[in-house]
Amino acid sequence: MRRCLDLAYKGRGYTAPNPMVGAVLVHDGRIIGEGWHHYYGADHAEVDCLKNVKSEDRSLIPASTMYVNLEPCAHYGKTPPCAVRLVHEQVRKVVIANTDPFEKVSGNGIEILKQAGITVQTGLMEKEGLWLNRRFFSFHTRKRPYIILKWAQTPDGFIAPADRSRLQISGQGSQQLVHKWRTEESAIMVGTTTALNDNPQLTARLAVGKQPLRIALDRTLRLPLDHHVFNNAADTWIINELKDSLEGNVRYLKIAFNDQMAERILQRLYDAQILSVIIEGGAALLNTFIGKRLWDEARIFTGAISIHSGLSAPLLNNEIHAFSATSDSDKLDVYLNRSNPYHYIPEMEL
Ligand SMILES: NC(=O)c1ccc[n+]([C@@H]2O[C@H](COP(=O)([O-])OP(=O)(O)OC[C@H]3O[C@@H](n4cnc5c(N)ncnc54)[C@H](OP(=O)(O)O)[C@@H]3O)[C@@H](O)[C@H]2O)c1
Repeated sequence: MRRCLDLAYKGRGYTAPNPMVGAVLVHDGRIIGEGWHHYYGADHAEVDCLKNVKSEDRSLIPASTMYVNLEPCAHYGKTPPCAVRLVHEQVRKVVIANTDPFEKVSGNGIEILKQAGITVQTGLMEKEGLWLNRRFFSFHTRKRPYIILKWAQTPDGFIAPADRSRLQISGQGSQQLVHKWRTEESAIMVGTTTALNDNPQLTARLAVGKQPLRIALDRTLRLPLDHHVFNNAADTWIINELKDSLEGNVRYLKIAFNDQMAERILQRLYDAQILSVIIEGGAALLNTFIGKRLWDEARIFTGAISIHSGLSAPLLNNEIHAFSATSDSDKLDVYLNRSNPYHYIPEMEL
């Protein structure tokens, strides 16, 4: 199952809104096939695994055990369900980490296997599997995207000078790490003042991977159209109070900016099948989500240089300190929200 999770992780950033899934087929202590879900729309892990069994080993499939970190699917899409495929291949036993929270699958895949006389074992490395697919499980069980907060602060607790001018607090290595993180999420969001003053590109240009949806708040549409968020580098949502329209790669989404704004944004993201969002500031936007306890993970860099006054960094609530690391001369602290149902504390891969 550890190997399944490692294989599944190869699909990070590419499988959403599907989960990351890996599969391993074992005969008499020997792995005869491996596979994973490479990207959304590609073969499911079980099918990829079966395709990779060498022709001389195919006769061993009925005497083999398949390990897969998520319950095989049971619904007919473009291809027959994986559970039916495993029955057809007469696999002897299936070992699963997590049952599928998705309504069309939940328990049905296991039932199909059992009805066909296949031995099924569930719950192996369940916590690790839940953590790996925390975005997917959050999305289906809590009906909202998984929310990651990210900011950089000075050692004396500020995220920007008092005049809100742009200040690079973290080093180049930390910035590369942030770009890698961006490729792993479905969307990235910033507040109006950040979009206006910093003119960020909000791309993952320092990393290899998928570019997330960019989202900027702009209640009164005051962001200049020559700002980077309006370029063609990524699909973009401008959350505003004035218009609903699609203009090239920019979608204007009209919502009321009242005390339910955060919930409304999350609902729109859920409706668009956005599994996760990384919120990168500024303080007002981060504090809005923290104040409503609408966050799951916070990744905070603390740089080396104090500025003595300025815009205070947000303060978390209900957090668990997951771990610390160093990145350049920055310290990185990762916190998890205690109310997050997936707060298994792993060794995080950076
Ligand atoms: N160190 C870091 O990691 C980091 C990261 C990002 C930004 N920054 C810095 O942070 C500063 C900007 O932060 P900020 O706190 O002033 O602004 P911000 O969070 O970027 O944007 C706040 C603005 O968004 C709009 N808004 C409307 N409704 C809101 C709501 N419910 N919640 C939050 N925002 C809402 C408001 O503008 P309207 O009144 O126009 O609607 C509000 O003034 C800049 O100096 C930037 O450089 C630092």
